[in-house]
Amino acid sequence: MKANTRRGNRLVFDAVAGSYDQARPEIPAGLVADIVGFTSLAPGEKVLDIGAGTGQLTLPLGKAGLDVTALEPGEKLRELLEKKTAADDRVHVTGGFFEDYDGAEDGSFAAVFSANAFHWIDPAVSYDKAAGLLRPGGYLVLLWNVPTVEDGALRVALNERAFADHPDFVRDAHPRVEVLAAEGSEEMAASGRYETPRVELCSQPLVFTPDDYVTLLISYANAAVLTSEARRDLEDGVRRVLADHDVESIRVVNSVYAVIGCRAEQ
Ligand SMILES: C[S@@+](CC[C@H](N)C(=O)[O-])C[C@H]1O[C@@H](n2cnc3c(N)ncnc32)[C@H](O)[C@@H]1O
Repeated sequence: MKANTRRGNRLVFDAVAGSYDQARPEIPAGLVADIVGFTSLAPGEKVLDIGAGTGQLTLPLGKAGLDVTALEPGEKLRELLEKKTAADDRVHVTGGFFEDYDGAEDGSFAAVFSANAFHWIDPAVSYDKAAGLLRPGGYLVLLWNVPTVEDGALRVALNERAFADHPDFVRDAHPRVEVLAAEGSEEMAASGRYETPRVELCSQPLVFTPDDYVTLLISYANAAVLTSEARRDLEDGVRRVLADHDVESIRVVNSVYAVIGCRAEQ
């Protein structure tokens, strides 16, 4: 995933923290287990989760028995994450941007993870700083979700009617996850700090009510930055299409890809 060129919006998720928490899916436990296996992470090993949100990756990492430092700059998101993990001594929640993070010495982490967040970090810092924080043989693991409405007719109607003025929401039948993963892999390799990355893909079926689907959409940065009037227009447009198609539940295929690179020895 290429670095976001609108990094000024990097805290926008905090303004929709409740919606974010309600609608965004957890990274599938099966994929996390595969990654833990491939990277030979043992229970209790220290990992960092950058841009933790309300725990979409932090929680499955904690359940996998890892000792997780969850870094989240958004105050409201962080509060929700702190509440959820208060009783879990494997999870340590901390604030601030990764660019400024000084909570651990170089070489501290067996793995550095980030889900749907690494593109928000300054690319002049992200790969180098993560490599520095990794112990020798440690892994950088970057994940992204690409949710796509399964029903073709509904997807086309949403694209053409509700998303006509919101091209970032338009989805093809096949979201080219392999291409995105290959680009992510090339980008990680080009940093020169990681050995040839490996890609893991997984498909997660999700079902939303119309209200929850609207909540999912407004948790995205593209919607969160709109004026309240423009956001209401987007919501109304989506609800009209769903009503016209008599939709009571929306099946979404969430394609998740992970790019996994071992720290290169220099
Ligand atoms: C799209 S959310 C991802 C949240 C969660 N990991 C998930 O998979 O749903 C991006 C997160 O990155 C955080 N973020 C943005 N810029 C960041 C930075 N420079 N350093 C650390 N986190 C950042 C935001 O506050 C937000 O919670």
